[in-house]
Amino acid sequence: ELLPQKLLIVEHSICCCGCACLSHTFCLSLPGAQGQFPIVQNMTVTEGGIVNLTCRVEHNDNTSLQWSNPAQQTLFFGDKKALRDNRIELVRATSQELTISISEVTLADEGMYTCSLFTMPVKTAKAFLTVLGMPKKPEINGLTKPVMEGDQITLTCVTSGSKPAADVRWFKNEKEVKGAKEVNASGKTFTVKSSLQLQVNRHDDGVAYTCRVDHMALTATHEETTQVLEVHYAPYVEIKHSIPAPLEGQYLKLECVPHGNPSPDPVLWTKDGGELPDLDRVIVEGRELTFMALNKTDNGTYRCEATNHLGTSHAEYKLVVKDPNALPGPPDHALIGGIVAVVVFATLCLIIVLGRYLARHKGTYLTNEAKGADDAPDADTAIINADGNHAHAEEKKEYFI
Ligand SMILES: *[C@@H]1O[C@H](CO)[C@@H](O)[C@H](O)[C@H]1NC(C)=O
Ligand SMILES: *[C@@H]1O[C@H](CO)[C@@H](O)[C@H](O)[C@H]1NC(C)=O
Ligand SMILES: *[C@@H]1O[C@H](CO)[C@@H](O)[C@H](O)[C@H]1NC(C)=O
Repeated sequence: ELLPQKLLIVEHSICCCGCACLSHTFCLSLPGAQGQFPIVQNMTVTEGGIVNLTCRVEHNDNTSLQWSNPAQQTLFFGDKKALRDNRIELVRATSQELTISISEVTLADEGMYTCSLFTMPVKTAKAFLTVLGMPKKPEINGLTKPVMEGDQITLTCVTSGSKPAADVRWFKNEKEVKGAKEVNASGKTFTVKSSLQLQVNRHDDGVAYTCRVDHMALTATHEETTQVLEVHYAPYVEIKHSIPAPLEGQYLKLECVPHGNPSPDPVLWTKDGGELPDLDRVIVEGRELTFMALNKTDNGTYRCEATNHLGTSHAEYKLVVKDPNALPGPPDHALIGGIVAVVVFATLCLIIVLGRYLARHKGTYLTNEAKGADDAPDADTAIINADGNHAHAEEKKEYFI
């Protein structure tokens, strides 16, 4: 069976050397020294994992295979274990393959492993084992809780143990923000730090800052840590009212909305710098002030005050109760009159301007018609015919329409 193949090789004068073979037809199952050499592959494994080192010989005549470690110590000679290390085990030993496994891989296992085939002379193949360092879950430092508005803080995110150095990124509510990165080697691994400087304001209250670590050892995933800012700030107050122009007898609700952290609660209502009138007429419920039926005597300035440990703030509402019978009053007449006057004036202006345009373009049209009408089937063509400049004619036609 082998003979014709050998003949073919001679015939085609092909120098066939193992893996560099041009075709299986010529070289498959070629015996002898030419095809007898070990083949290995570089391997990558994550610290703590398990890796197989495989050495193959396509055409072997039962010559022994051996794996040795980067320190040149023999690990396995054929199926015989040579080094006392429980983590290293035999997976398969045949005349064409020697596969061993290393479990609980450490960074110290990294290096060049050698597979030797004991022909004369000995043939070797070298496989580099790369051990990846898994980055630790990132830690965020520099955050005090709570932060005072106006404070300048520096958040730092640190992850150690990565090899090669991990990628560290910051996200503010899931939107990436740029940090200042720093990489330090410690032994075989790296400590990666990213700092973020913040001038804190009230809008940062409740904002989530996430530090995310990406690394090739974290396949299809990443490590991240999130911190939510709590910002303390002095209150500010606004008053919301249920109706815009209150009339006598109407229901009116004023709501005091204080913003601040810590929340300024309760709020304090006053009228014209003094106490609120008869509580039968005015109902105060927490932040809300309610008039069941407004009376002119309710006129005045209502103030809502909110306090937290960072300060006090207030808002005022000037209540003017109008008589429903006095409506529509003289000021409204004046307003309507004004609007009517403006509309009439604008309409007049428009008519004048339009009139002028119409007059001008009608004239142009007629002139054009007179010149080009003789041999034109319709008015449009007449214009085009009359004027050599087509674009010009188009323009005029557009104006007229
Ligand atoms: C295997 O790794 C070594 C050392 O990193 C490198 O020099 C060599 O080119 C690699 N071989 C292959 C086939 O990738
Ligand atoms: C307004 O209050 C005055 C005095 O309390 C009272 O006499 C009057 O009837 C009230 N008006 C309305 C519309 O309730
Ligand atoms: C309340 O304000 C209205 C509108 O300015 C005014 O007509 C009325 O006299 C005021 N009443 C009181 C009691 O101030």
